[in-house]
Order: sequence, then structure tokens, then C-alpha cells
Amino acid sequence: MEKIKFECSNCLYLVPKWLGHCIKCNSWNSFIETNSKYSKKSKTIKKIDLKNLSEVGNESIYRICTGIGELDRVLGGGIVQGSLTLIGGQPGVGKSTLLLEAAAKLVRLNENKRVLYISGEESEGQISLRAKRLNICEENIYLLNENDWEKIKLAIDQLRPIVFILDSIQTTVIKDMSASPGSVSQIKEITYEILNYCKDKKISSIIVGHITKDGSISGPKVLEHMVDTVLYFEGLGEHNHRILKSIKNRFGNTFEVGLFEMEEEGLIEISDTSKSFIKSTINGPGRTRTCILEGRRVLFLEIQALVNENKFSNPKRITQGIDNSRLSMLIAIIEKYAGISLINQDVYINVVGGFKVDNKEIDLAIVASILSSYFKITVEGEKVFLGEVGLSGEIRGASFLDSILKDLEILNYKDLVIGIENKDELRQKFNFKISALEKINDLKEKFFNL
Ligand code: TYD
Ligand code: MG
Repeated sequence: MEKIKFECSNCLYLVPKWLGHCIKCNSWNSFIETNSKYSKKSKTIKKIDLKNLSEVGNESIYRICTGIGELDRVLGGGIVQGSLTLIGGQPGVGKSTLLLEAAAKLVRLNENKRVLYISGEESEGQISLRAKRLNICEENIYLLNENDWEKIKLAIDQLRPIVFILDSIQTTVIKDMSASPGSVSQIKEITYEILNYCKDKKISSIIVGHITKDGSISGPKVLEHMVDTVLYFEGLGEHNHRILKSIKNRFGNTFEVGLFEMEEEGLIEISDTSKSFIKSTINGPGRTRTCILEGRRVLFLEIQALVNENKFSNPKRITQGIDNSRLSMLIAIIEKYAGISLINQDVYINVVGGFKVDNKEIDLAIVASILSSYFKITVEGEKVFLGEVGLSGEIRGASFLDSILKDLEILNYKDLVIGIENKDELRQKFNFKISALEKINDLKEKFFNL
């Protein structure tokens, strides 16, 4: 007769009878039944087939384009056939919207292929309402509102889709397991089942995992090592911008990011980053442009400064989007090396669009905005200021300038203000109007005619 044993899932302590509390590691409700069958079976295996690396042929990878350029880019050129992708994000960020749109474009691109969309959260009617809003009426998208993994498996078998979407992993359950829906053991087991079930059948699966608002990623985080690709969908700034990042990708790199804007009619791809993040084209004192690198994409940002006289000798330093101590440091540098006193001036800084930036390369733009507001002189043209400011007022080179400049060239930006360090190398490579500055005092002469 088989001897049943119970193992603590936390510390692997074995006991002959089920216990509610592990006496070794003190965890509660952690014992699960193991079967002594396993140990007997492994003893009967006599030989293992090993492969020499040189004999193993390259497996060819077949990619399915989703038709959403930004998503395909992050995936490394499309979903790999038979792969398992996890897409995480806070509730309401737009995961379901993105996947429904991807499903629609996918069936449009791949004639006679089907996509199965399982939702444990919304009824078929709710999904269809969303589809109407997004102008989606494709025949080859099949919907099912189901939580039970056994039934979902049946649906996959019945339909044999090219892509299977599970929205979300937290709402799906294996009924035989005693653990509650969304618990770590449930979501791990289901992911394992999907891996086994869909890989062989060459069905690509995408599973949605919610992360909580406070950023604790308890659920989906434990799945990251099991899946092929992990994407995170997040808000960017305070507007409707969304960013899709790749955290892990067995079939591509993890530098790429996808940019979207959530509009009434769905997610709009942002391919031109020069327009989307800078809304106003009107120049004025206290406003300059800079850019930062997100993944491999250049995001243009506007830095606004307001310098205003304070009559009560308690000057305010208030920032939105940058660290307050960074502003204090830049003000000290300006006072020392640009020869102006801000002791009786309030200084406000705002990174337009609600972005939070800690890249030091935006220092030069902050200083230029402060000077522009202080002198009430507008910086003319569409200049991009890029460089870190050092404690002796020197302007240092920015990192990754090469990739930034390649993007700037594509986007038709031709006017750049940088530190002197990068000047020669860049002038040779790019056809830009480059103003190279050594110290922040040079800003006064160059842009404010002082
Ligand atoms: P949703 O895709 O349901 O988010 P998630 O699946 O990540 O929880 O998107 C929810 C939000 O997106 C919701 O607040 C409404 C908004 N939305 C739009 O602004 N435009 C649209 O076309 C759609 C479908 C949703
Ligand atoms: Mg959803």
C-alpha cells in the first residue's frame, strides 16, 4: 500500500499525518500531501538520454505579429508561437483594453486563425460592450466568461486558437485545490498547467496579472521565473499616457518600451515622442525643453520655472517632478557661478505632464529655465538642453547621448545645447546645430545676451 506523507510547502518538513501548523518553520496551513509513488518511480528509471550541445540544432522561432506596433516592438517582433507571456499592471491601467485590441488586430492579420479570450472578471456582454466602444467586431475572437481551469482547458481544446488570453490569473481556479483563488499556490499551479498544456500545442498564451496600487506585486511576481516574457503596463505622468515595459524576455531584449495614450476610443500608439509630451508650442520665459531615455525611446519633456520675488525673507523652493534637494543644489550653484542672488526669490519648478524624473541630464534645462524666468527672457527656438551640472558650475556630458541624438535626428530636432565634453565627437557624427557650453555662466551670454 502507498504510504501517504505530508510536506510543508514552506520548509519541506515531512510528517506522516496532516498538521495545521509546521513545528519546524512555524508556518500555518502549509502542509500538502505528497505521494511516495514519486520516489519509487524515479528508482525504476535506468537511463537518461543526454544531448551534446554541438548536436542540438537551432530551434526556429515563429513569431505572430499582433499588429500593434508598440506591443510587437516590446515583445521583440511579435508573440513567439507557443510562448507564455505575463502582462502585469495595476487595475484600470488598460490591460484588458490592450489585449482585446491586440486580439482584433491579430485575427485581422492572420486569416482563418482564432483567438480565445477568457475573462474571469467581465461577462461576455461586458466584453462585447467594450469591443463596440473600440470598434471591434471580428468573428474570429471567441469569448468565455469562466473561472474554472478544467472548463478553460476544454475550451482551448475545442477551439485550438492561435493565441489564448487569460484575464486574469487571479480569478482562475483549479477546483480540486483547496487554496483560495488568487493565492500563490493556485496561480503557480495554473501557470504550470498552461505551460504544459499550450506549449505542446503551439498555442501562445498571454496571462494577465494584477498588481496592487501600493506596488506590492505578491501575485504575479512569483510567476516571473516560470513564464517566457514578463511585461508591465504602467501609467506615465499624470495624463493618459501608458508605458509598456519588458522585464524579462526569453526571445528578445528588455530595453524596448511601448508608448500609448488612453483615449475615449481606446489605446492610441505614440510613435512620435516629440509631439505627445510637449503640448504647447508657445515659448515664454521660464520654459525649456529636455529629453530623457526610457528604454530605447526618447521622451521630450518641458521644464518650467517660476522665479518670483519674495518679500518676507523666507524664499520657497517648491518642485514637482524633481527632487527638492536637487533644486537647492542647483540654486546654490547658480548663486555661486552665475553671479545672481536668489536669496530673496521664490523658485518653483515643474516637469510638465506629471513626470517624475531623477535623470541628472535634465540639470541644464532646469538651470536654463530658472535663468530665463529670473531675467524674463525667452529661450528662442526649439532647443533641447541636455547635461548634468557639476558642483563647480561645469556642464558635464550626458550618458547615452548617441542613442538620444539618433532619435532626435529622426524626429527632426536640430538644435541642441550640451556640455563641451561631447561636442567634437557629436559634431562629426550628426548634422546638428550644437551649442557646447563649459560653465553655466555661458548660458547668460549665449541665450540671454548678458
Ligand atoms: P481596462 O482595460 O479595463 O483596465 P485593466 O484591465 O488593466 O483593469 O481599462 C480600464 C480603464 O480604461 C477604464 O477606467 C476606462 C478606460 N478606458 C478608456 O479610457 N477608453 C477606452 O476605450 C476603454 C475601453 C477604457
Ligand atoms: Mg481588466
